[in-house]
Amino acid sequence: MKNTAKRIGILTAGGDSPGLNAAIRAVGKAAIGEFGWEVLGFRDGFLGLAEDHWLPLDKPALSGILTVGGTILGTSREKPHRMEIDGQVRDMTDTIAANYRRHRLSALVCIGGGGTHKNALRLVKAGLNIVTLPKTIDNDVPLTDATIGFDTALGIASEALDRLHSTAHSHHRIIVAEIMGHRAGWLTLGAGIGGGADVILIPEIPYTPEKIAAAIARRAEGGRANFSIVAVAEGALSHETAAAFAVAKRKKQQARTAEKRKIAKAELKELDLRHAGNTLRLARQLEELTGLEARVTILGYVQRGGTPSVTDRILATRLGSACVSLIKEGRFGVMVAARGNTTTAVPITDVAGNLKLVPTDHEWVRAARRVGTCLGD
Ligand code: F6P
Repeated sequence: MKNTAKRIGILTAGGDSPGLNAAIRAVGKAAIGEFGWEVLGFRDGFLGLAEDHWLPLDKPALSGILTVGGTILGTSREKPHRMEIDGQVRDMTDTIAANYRRHRLSALVCIGGGGTHKNALRLVKAGLNIVTLPKTIDNDVPLTDATIGFDTALGIASEALDRLHSTAHSHHRIIVAEIMGHRAGWLTLGAGIGGGADVILIPEIPYTPEKIAAAIARRAEGGRANFSIVAVAEGALSHETAAAFAVAKRKKQQARTAEKRKIAKAELKELDLRHAGNTLRLARQLEELTGLEARVTILGYVQRGGTPSVTDRILATRLGSACVSLIKEGRFGVMVAARGNTTTAVPITDVAGNLKLVPTDHEWVRAARRVGTCLGD
């Protein structure tokens, strides 16, 4: 009789997010419980596959991890084609493919966000059977309703805004809370709406400090509310900075020579560097423009830590178990996406290199405006 038992690999890559362990557990339990497959967990993202660091994910290893934050496999942002090995940057794609074959893997499950999808596509092109699951607190992976970790981070960030309200109110201050999300505004917009921020600033809608100050001043008119909560995305840009980025990006696209491309890239890097500290600068500007005292709270990695929300546990379990069905059917080179009450497979080629940003006419944006929230424009 033909032996149909399979061995699959799994790794988590990119920034960690709550719900990764729930996804590992779902893939592992469905693979072992339903089909009797063997599951290997590679450590620290693609690095583990390159260096052949792995652990068996048997039933005991998968037990008790549903509610645990982070990832039991570890993670890294290492790229297969540019990996630092023994102090040297090397292309490890062939080594990864060789290790995959040596372990006689039938498939590799890669759980990650934007960077992971680009890397996964490289491995698809190298001939590996890949299925990906979308995870990131930024919610910026296209073609899926949601990503694993977003809901938990949303809860943490909106609770933080709730808590900042009472202290801002007591001291008649502006509190500027910086929220993660890289170049996407989903987390700030959602947390800002849920946490009742007075001002929400996202990368997709460039802001003007004077307009924010005017909104804060309006709130204070007649001694009504002499405080304000400003939820600002780490990637939010003033009109001025957004224009400078647009010029530099256009220069890079239009550069005809390697020299010109290098200059344009350096300009973009310089702008990125200057953008660090943007939230502190904004707080100082608002202080000057309104005469109110301003304080800054950077929520940072708190947003990625701790136990996943129930919504993320359910999402991770749905996507993880659907992933095993796809492997069983022999469907590879796809990401398992959440679509309404179901899951669907979308080609990794349609995901890699693309970002899901907030459309400026999105329902969340319109709803925020209608309840009087200032979006800085
Ligand atoms: O992609 C998730 C994320 O937390 C972003 O929101 C943030 O910009 C980035 O990762 C931080 O990356 P790192 O963990 O490498 O500092």
